[in-house]
Amino acid sequence: MTNTLYIPVVDGTTSINGLIALFVNNWSGNKTLLTLVDHPSGSESPAFAIQTPISAKVDSDLTLLTTLPLLVVGERDDVSRLIVSGLAAVSRHVIKESDNPEVRKALGFRGNCLQAPAECSIWTSFCEFQMIQSTILFLTQPLMAADIVEIPSTLVKLEEHLKQPIRMHNIVKRLQEETIKPSAKQVPQEEIQKLAGTWLEHTYSEGPDMTLADLLLFPCVTILTEKLANFGIVLANHLPRVGRWLTAMKLLVGQAWNTTISDPSIIDMDSLRIRSQPTVEVPRVKETSLYKKDSNRPGIGNLSSEEATRVADLLKGKRLWLEENEDGTRVAELPPSLVSHIDIAACSEFIARIDWSSLPDPVHPRQGHVPGSRLDRKIQQLDGMAAAVIDAVSEGDVIVDFCSGGGHLGILLAYLLPRCHVIMVDNKEESVRHARKRVAQLKLLNATLIQSNLDYFRGPFDLGVALHACGVATDLVLQTCLVERAAFVLCPCCYGNLAHPDLPIQYPQSQLYLTRGVSATDFSALARMADHLTDAGRLSMAAVDLDRVARAAQDGYRVTLQKLKPDSCSPKHDLLVGIPSKQTRTIS
Ligand SMILES: C[S@@+](CC[C@H](N)C(=O)[O-])C[C@H]1O[C@@H](n2cnc3c(N)ncnc32)[C@H](O)[C@@H]1O
Repeated sequence: MTNTLYIPVVDGTTSINGLIALFVNNWSGNKTLLTLVDHPSGSESPAFAIQTPISAKVDSDLTLLTTLPLLVVGERDDVSRLIVSGLAAVSRHVIKESDNPEVRKALGFRGNCLQAPAECSIWTSFCEFQMIQSTILFLTQPLMAADIVEIPSTLVKLEEHLKQPIRMHNIVKRLQEETIKPSAKQVPQEEIQKLAGTWLEHTYSEGPDMTLADLLLFPCVTILTEKLANFGIVLANHLPRVGRWLTAMKLLVGQAWNTTISDPSIIDMDSLRIRSQPTVEVPRVKETSLYKKDSNRPGIGNLSSEEATRVADLLKGKRLWLEENEDGTRVAELPPSLVSHIDIAACSEFIARIDWSSLPDPVHPRQGHVPGSRLDRKIQQLDGMAAAVIDAVSEGDVIVDFCSGGGHLGILLAYLLPRCHVIMVDNKEESVRHARKRVAQLKLLNATLIQSNLDYFRGPFDLGVALHACGVATDLVLQTCLVERAAFVLCPCCYGNLAHPDLPIQYPQSQLYLTRGVSATDFSALARMADHLTDAGRLSMAAVDLDRVARAAQDGYRVTLQKLKPDSCSPKHDLLVGIPSKQTRTIS
């Protein structure tokens, strides 16, 4: 299969992400086609000179769609070609498609290394973002004092991680292959599993074998180590495990690195304004493995009785002026300025219009691995979403299905609306693979598949859809649509996740709620209540969604907050539709 890697290049230099992607590709020895795109990296990254000669200079239209570096998997005219963006995802594809089994081993046990996207995995986030961000910061930020150098905390976190017991599958088997025999330690068999991780050394970041995680970390740690050495600081004296890891890595990948970067001393040291032999500060970090589950990550959790009372006060005390009638319709008392913008009427029109029996098999969610028990409900959800989209689009529109999963909605829309173009964006490799297979079977010419985080998506579009985009993902989609002045059709889920304090969105989002005195703490309680299958839960769900549509109404959108029918199609059945004003739309 032909793969093409697109790297941003300006005057023979690339960004740190471009450099790492190129390094992984060089190390894999793959015959990936390279396209060096004459394009600024778009990030604050310093420029790194690369050795690869400029073989092609294109202003690719793909760079309008998603961030660089990106990998195109498949031939140019392949209908189901896949665009992959994001360092871990790009690197995984490069390695996966190597002919060399030794290279493929870098994907670890069952090929899972860095498969979980960064927002779900601390480890992916560390390797794909945090180490890179801290390298950029160290190289570009003016330092506090010219005679003190603080070692980047990510390096210290790596040192702590390397101290922790190894977590790997088949660790006991591996231990038996190593020189240390558990039997020699005279430990009861049941204890061996527990202790095995402490008996093996962390030669590499995931254990005794080098993986993709090491490959992504290597360029940053090397660059940082060299910069520190320029100040007379020997990193290994302060972080011995990182020092040993780097030595081991250089033996394996040094050659690929040396053929990737052109002049390691390209970074302008004068800009750092450091005198030689400065005082070294090693920041304190948590003594923990980076594999550890983040206790701050969101969970639904139960509400305390105090929080439940607060939610009841918000709902019943009518600070939100939101109620549900017996027939399931909702009423909200809105300020006069919003009354004409927000419609909370019952949703009757968004029900089945599609004759599923007339559709080819790959359009049907049955082919998209939806289990039989959920199939009818999935069809009901798709019926409602598709009907709302069909009402909102015009001929020639570009529709983006954000968080498209296995492509149920995107593929259906592409099939039903042949004069529109549908782009599906999802960060889960396996789901995108299913979608790709279905697109190929249908030979859909009006569909594009992107495997990436939704926030990498850059393209112009007219309408954004998202069916059950988890938690904050719905709000990121909403934000993207508002910025693009695109229409939206959203059915959110995982409301409890919005209770997490470190999300990229500030809640509540709307002036409506802010002026009604709904605090972030109130909102967090509402969000957690929204995941409960009770009357208060359903009303809280609508209250969270009222904030979302009110946010869009504020930007001049005409919005409706309705429900997919029947209610039983999913406990998460709110349907948010927004059409930007000053835009005439005709039904196709
Ligand atoms: C519950 S599934 C819904 C999939 C599909 N829309 C459907 O209804 O079948 C949520 C999907 O969102 C994707 N996702 C979550 N956060 C994402 C993000 N930040 N960027 C891209 N995809 C994301 C997940 O990979 C998953 O496939």
